Amino acid sequence: MTSSKFEPNDDILDFVIKKANGLKGLVDRSLEIIPNQCIQPKEHRLYKSQIDNQESIPTIDLSNFDDLNVEKSIQEAASKWGCFQIINHGIPIEVLEDLKDAGHKFFELPPEEKVKYCKDNYGAGESVLMFWSAIGEKNEKVLEWRDSIKHGCNPQNDSNLWPPQTRNQVLEYQKWAKPLAKKLLEILLKGLNVNVIDESLEPLLMGTMSININYYPPCPNPSITMGARRHCDGSCITLLFQDDTGGLYVQGTEGDKWIHVNPIKGALAVNIGDLLQIMSNDRYKSIEHCVAVDSSRARVSVPLFVNASLDSVIGPFPQMLKDGEKPVYKHILHSDYWDNFYRKRPSGKASLDFAKI
Ligand code: OGA
Ligand code: NI
Repeated sequence: MTSSKFEPNDDILDFVIKKANGLKGLVDRSLEIIPNQCIQPKEHRLYKSQIDNQESIPTIDLSNFDDLNVEKSIQEAASKWGCFQIINHGIPIEVLEDLKDAGHKFFELPPEEKVKYCKDNYGAGESVLMFWSAIGEKNEKVLEWRDSIKHGCNPQNDSNLWPPQTRNQVLEYQKWAKPLAKKLLEILLKGLNVNVIDESLEPLLMGTMSININYYPPCPNPSITMGARRHCDGSCITLLFQDDTGGLYVQGTEGDKWIHVNPIKGALAVNIGDLLQIMSNDRYKSIEHCVAVDSSRARVSVPLFVNASLDSVIGPFPQMLKDGEKPVYKHILHSDYWDNFYRKRPSGKASLDFAKI
C-alpha cells in the first residue's frame, strides 16, 4: 500500500479507517484544517466554563486493602462519584510504563502494518481489533480524535493474534490487573450484601474482559474536537491507566460540571459502569466521562473493561429488592444491552434507559 496523502475532499472514513492511517495518519500529514467529520457539534464539546477546578475525585490508598476503612471509602466513592483513583494497588510501575510504550510503538507503525488488525464492525468477541468511534446519531458521523485497539482477554481469545508490539505487555498487565479487579468487585459487592464472587457470580461480574489501548494524537484545534465524547462505560467496572498528559474529565456530583482526573504517577482510575449501576439498583453510579485532547502531545490510556458474559441476564440483585425496594431496571440479556450500546452509542447517562422499567 502506498502511503497516501489526505486531501480536503477525500473520504475521511476511507483514509482513517479502511486504510488504517488513523487519526495519527491525519496529524502526520501536517494537517492545518480539521476535517469536517472530526468537528464535534457544539453540544458535544467541552468548554472551559464547564470545568470545576475546585473539586477532585477521591484517591484511595490500597496499601491496607483489607482495612475496613479502605473498603468503606471504596463503597462510598462508588455511590457518591462512581469514580476514584487508586494508589499502592500492587501493580509495578514498570508494567504500566511498558503498556504506555507499547501503545506508542503500535500506533506509530505504518498503516500497512496496522491494517491487519482493522475490522469493519465493532464485534464483541474478537481477539483483537482496531476501531474508531464514528458516532451515528441521525446519520451524523463524527470521528472522535483517537485511535484504539481492543485486546479480547477471554479464554476463547487467542493472544497470538495480538500485535507483537503490545502482546507481552498486555498479557503481563492482565496477570496483575485481573485479581485486582476481582478484589475491587468483591468489596463493592460486600457493600450491597452480596457475598464473595463464587462460580455462579463470576460470569455475571467478570465473564468477559478486554484491554483497549487508546492513542490520542495531538490536535491542532482541540476546542472543536473530542478524544471521547461524554459517555458511561457499559462495563461492571473499568480500570484505567493514563499517562501524564491529562485530559480525562468526569461529571461532578452537582450541576453539569466536569472534573479533571489529575494523572498521578502509577495510579489507576476506577469507573463504575452501567452494568453495576443496574445490578445495584442505583446504589452505585456509573460515571459519565469524556476526554479532551492536547494540542502538542499524544496521549495513551489503557482501559480494562470488566464485563458480564454476553449470555448473562442483567438486572438488580435480589438482595437489593428484598425489603420491598422497587426495581429501577428490568432483567435483560447482556447481549441485547451491548447491541443497543454499540449500535446507538447513547450519550452520557442515556445509555441506562434501555434497561429501565
Ligand atoms: C474509554 C474511555 C478514557 C481515557 O475508552 O471508554 O473513557 O482516558 N477512555 O482514555
Ligand atoms: Ni469510557
